[in-house]
Parts: sequence; C-alpha cells; structure tokens
Amino acid sequence: MKCFLGAALACAAAVLLAACKSDAAFQKEATWPIPKHGAVVSEHPLATRAGLDVLNRGGNAADAAVATALALAVAYPQAGNLGGGGFALFVAHTGVASAIDFRETAPAAAAVARFLGSNGELVSARAVRGPLSVAVPGSPAGLYELFREHGSGRFSLADLARPAIELATRGFTVDGWLARDLSDLNVRARMNSAALALFYPGGKPLAEGALLRQPELATTLALYANAGPSAFYRGRIADLVVAELAAARVPESTETGAGWITSSDLASYRAIPRTPLRGWFRGMEIVAMPPPSSGGVMLLQVLGMLEGLPLDAEREHARAAHALEPSEPRDDPGLSDRMVHWWIEAQRRAFADRAAHLGDPDLVNVPLTELLAHAWIAERRVSIGEVAEPAVAPWAPVRESMQTTHLSVLDAQGNAVSLTTTLNSRFGSGILVRGAGFLLNNEIDDFAIAPNAPNQFGLVGAAANALQPGKRPLSTMTPTVVRDGGHANTTVIGSMGGPRILSSVAQVLLRIFVLEEVPERAIRAPRFHQQWNPLPTSFERGFDPALVAALAGRRGHPVDESSETFGSVQLIHLAEPGAQPAAISDPRRGGAGAVQGKPMSTPAVPPP
Ligand code: DON
Repeated sequence: MKCFLGAALACAAAVLLAACKSDAAFQKEATWPIPKHGAVVSEHPLATRAGLDVLNRGGNAADAAVATALALAVAYPQAGNLGGGGFALFVAHTGVASAIDFRETAPAAAAVARFLGSNGELVSARAVRGPLSVAVPGSPAGLYELFREHGSGRFSLADLARPAIELATRGFTVDGWLARDLSDLNVRARMNSAALALFYPGGKPLAEGALLRQPELATTLALYANAGPSAFYRGRIADLVVAELAAARVPESTETGAGWITSSDLASYRAIPRTPLRGWFRGMEIVAMPPPSSGGVMLLQVLGMLEGLPLDAEREHARAAHALEPSEPRDDPGLSDRMVHWWIEAQRRAFADRAAHLGDPDLVNVPLTELLAHAWIAERRVSIGEVAEPAVAPWAPVRESMQTTHLSVLDAQGNAVSLTTTLNSRFGSGILVRGAGFLLNNEIDDFAIAPNAPNQFGLVGAAANALQPGKRPLSTMTPTVVRDGGHANTTVIGSMGGPRILSSVAQVLLRIFVLEEVPERAIRAPRFHQQWNPLPTSFERGFDPALVAALAGRRGHPVDESSETFGSVQLIHLAEPGAQPAAISDPRRGGAGAVQGKPMSTPAVPPP
C-alpha cells in the first residue's frame, strides 16, 4: 500500500513537473501582431491633427485620445466638451482592457417633482433646456483618469492640452458644419446670453470662414491642464458653474436653477473604473462598454442573436440570386430583405430589454448575467420568425437636434482607445458658463423621468432608469474594440446618434464581418434604425427601395423613410493583424482620419 502511494505521489510529481515545464514554454514573452502605424479618427480635422501629433511625438493611444478630446472641446462645441461626459475603453495590445465611466451624474437635489407642471403633468422641456437639464459634468475627471491610468508617462496633462489651449486662444476657422448647426433655430433658442454672445456675434450665427476665439475657455483649459480635475470641480470654475445655473430660468416656471447643482455635487464627482463587457462574434472578441451605457449590452445581444442564424448561407443565396438576375445593385448584393429583417428583429429585442432593465448599476440591480446569458440570447433568436413582430403602439418622436462625438485611436504598439463623449443635445443645454467659457450638458433627459414617457430620442424606460440623486442616466454610447481571435486590436469603433449609435455601430460591424464589405463602403452604406418603441423601422435615404418594399410587404415591417442621417461612425480597421490601418471618418459629417506617415483624409462638406 505504502509502495503504491509512493509510486502514485512520484507519478503526480512527474506530471506536475511536466506541466510546469510546458507552462514555462508558454510563459515566453508573448508576441502580438502590431499595426504598422498608429491612427486617429475624430469628427474634426483639427482634433485629429492634435492626436496625430501626439502619436508622432511618441505618445500612446491614451495620450493621443486625451489631446484629441480636449481639442474637440474647443473646435467642435456641438458635442466636444468639458461640461459633458462619456465613456472610454482602453484596450492594451495584450488584451488587458479597462473602461472609464465619466457619465454625468444627477445632483443631490434631483427630484421628479421639479419636472412636473402645476397639474402634475411632465414638462419635458425642463429636461432638455434650462438649468434642470444639466447633470454634474464628467469629462474633466474622465479624461484625467485616461491620462493618469493609461498614458505613456512621456507627457504631462499640460502637454496634451496645449493644442486645445492654442486653438481656443488663437482661434480657428469655423467650418461649414459648425456654421450649419448654428443656423438651426432650435439650437439658438436653447442658448443663454453668454452662448449667444460667443456664437452669434452681432446677433448673427458665426458663418463658415469666421474666426472663433474662446479666451475664457482657454483660461479654463489652462487651469485644468496645470492642476488637473480639482481646478474644475473645486474653486473658481465650480463657483462659476453653480452661479450660472442659479441665474438660469426653469422653462415654463418662475423658478431658477438655484441649488440644482451645488459645490458639493461638483466636489464629489468621480470617474468610475468599470470592467468592460466581453463577447464573441464569429471568432472575434468584442470588448464593449458596460452600464450605465446600454450600448455594449445591446451590441453583444444583437451580435449574439445573429451569430446563430445562417448569415453566410443567406448572403450567398442573395448573391447567387443577384448573379442570376444581374442589375445595378442599389446596395450590397449579399444584403437580402431576410437578412435586414433579422438585423431589425434582433435590435428590437435588445431595445426592449434596455427599456425594461437597464440603468445605473451602482443604484439599481441590472441583471447583466441574465441579459447576456446564452440561453436568453438563444431564446430571443428562436423567437425571430419570417415576419416582423412589433409589440407596441407607435409613437412619433420629436426631432430635436442632437450631437455626440466619438474618437478612435490605435497606436503603433497596438493599444486602442475608443471614446464617446457628449453634451447630449447639440451644444447641450445651451448654457455657457460665464467667465469659464464652456457649455453645460442636458443629460438629465436621458433619465426616464416619468415611466413610459418618451424622451427627446423617443426612448422609454422604467424604474431602472428613473431619476434619482447621484444616479447616472442610461446611455446608448457604444465605444467598442474588436480583437482578432482575441489576439490583436483590429477594429476601434463608435459613433454619435443617440439610440442610433447602436444601429450605426452594429450595422458597420455586420457589413464588414458578414457582408465582407471594405470599411469605406460599410461606413458609407445607408442605415436603418429600430428601437422597439416607437414601432416603425426608419430608413436613411438611399436605402434600396426594393429592399424596403420587401420588408414592408412580405416581412410585415412598419417602415418610415427619414430625411436625417443616422450616426457618424469613426472607425479604425486593420484588415489583418499587423497590417496598415485604415482610419475612416463617416462622410455624413466633417471629421477626418489620419494614419502616421500618410496624408489626413479630406473632410466632407455639409450638403447644400
Ligand atoms: O448617452 C446617450 O445615449 C445620449 N445622451 C447620446 C446623445 C447623442 O448621441 C446625440 N447625438 N448625436
């Protein structure tokens, strides 16, 4: 017996040793394919330039993303910001991934009663303009975290803020996009007198070609650059924010915003590190943002539902049918009405879960495990039949001007940053902080202030996203990084567009990875949007009319053609690990992509 035990132990030791030896072989420094050059893409060429210069001077993706985001706060005031918030993913080339939640937060005084009129009815204007629409800003804290946690250490915050400060001090030439946005009467109506003085000198919107100087913003940026977030959240700038809101009038009321955001709300703001969501789609690892954004959950649900459907067979069938009856295709010949029907139905189901279950995970119980469980996703998948299954009555959303902005960076070592930031509506609440030169967000509208009352995007929600002090409103921002088999960052993607962010990101990924389109084509292709409520699926102009007719006819989808464009995707894509990246800014807007050593792409001009 003793002898047997001894032999067994010796045997176990031998097995362990062998295991250790083979482990040692695996512990050799892993080599990861890296891109040939780094790349930056954003919605303004001056911001892309700021990021590219940082990469060229030896900065990494986090350094470049911070410089780009701060430059957007100056050159792209529609959405770039200090007074807003957002989400950032940093995915190191080794696959170690972190997420920073710098979403704006409801102040301690937040109460639904402030949004109700004298008869108890919801005054939805209060959530989109005026002081009550403003939530405690997150960007100064979030960008600092990105710099401190993930920056290369070769730059100070002041180095990264320098291009933004120069743009604000010397001024920059207003492009056609900013001029067009300022000529929108809804935008003008939301702005306070300080914002009007800056953007409408002499009572007229700044025209294309005008020089926009922002000396107060330059001072704010300089204070932040030298002292970090405490310069924003405490002291003079914080006092100016509190005073600005105290002076602002609440729409349809005699009240002001006094006491809405206090010094203590600002002093207690923190960017929160989160664990990114991870999923798989056709052998690629998808790294995505967890709540309080709904974007990652919905993207993984949509891709998960679709993964189990015969996408390749359907694409080949559609291509073969097209080859038999060749005509000038209006869209990809692999995109059948059945394929689009599947994409719509998957998205409808994801948005239904969003409305019922998603909210700030620090204050409500978000059933993430259940929502992302294979069994639930499979159940959802098998419930997709051959025709549309709309579940709710239609509601027509009010079209408000909107703006968010996304930037993607991939450095030459293969580290990726995917960062989406927003003021919510275009130019946010329109409240410019006098003496500090920046606009405040109107993110309070992203809460479900009253159950099932649609917000400016037509989104409905339940208790999970009810307004509560200290809570972060649910978002659809979907910064995402795709890794080739989990081994290298090959796609860095995100978009603006409210709920259409999810449609834009999902459809560009599906076109690249299922329809095998080149990225330029996948981005240019027309998009559809479905968000469960309202019921119809909207189509951008240019969507193949035969396809829309087939969806409306044999697939039973309520459809709706929109005159708007959906999203603005900022994409960096490597055709294969180690290749030269492509940096593509959506031609729906005026952004630019740049790859190190190559000329920057030419921005699109606004349609006449
Ligand atoms: O977080 C969200 O989902 C919204 N606040 C985003 C707003 C937006 O994308 C507006 N437009 N492009």
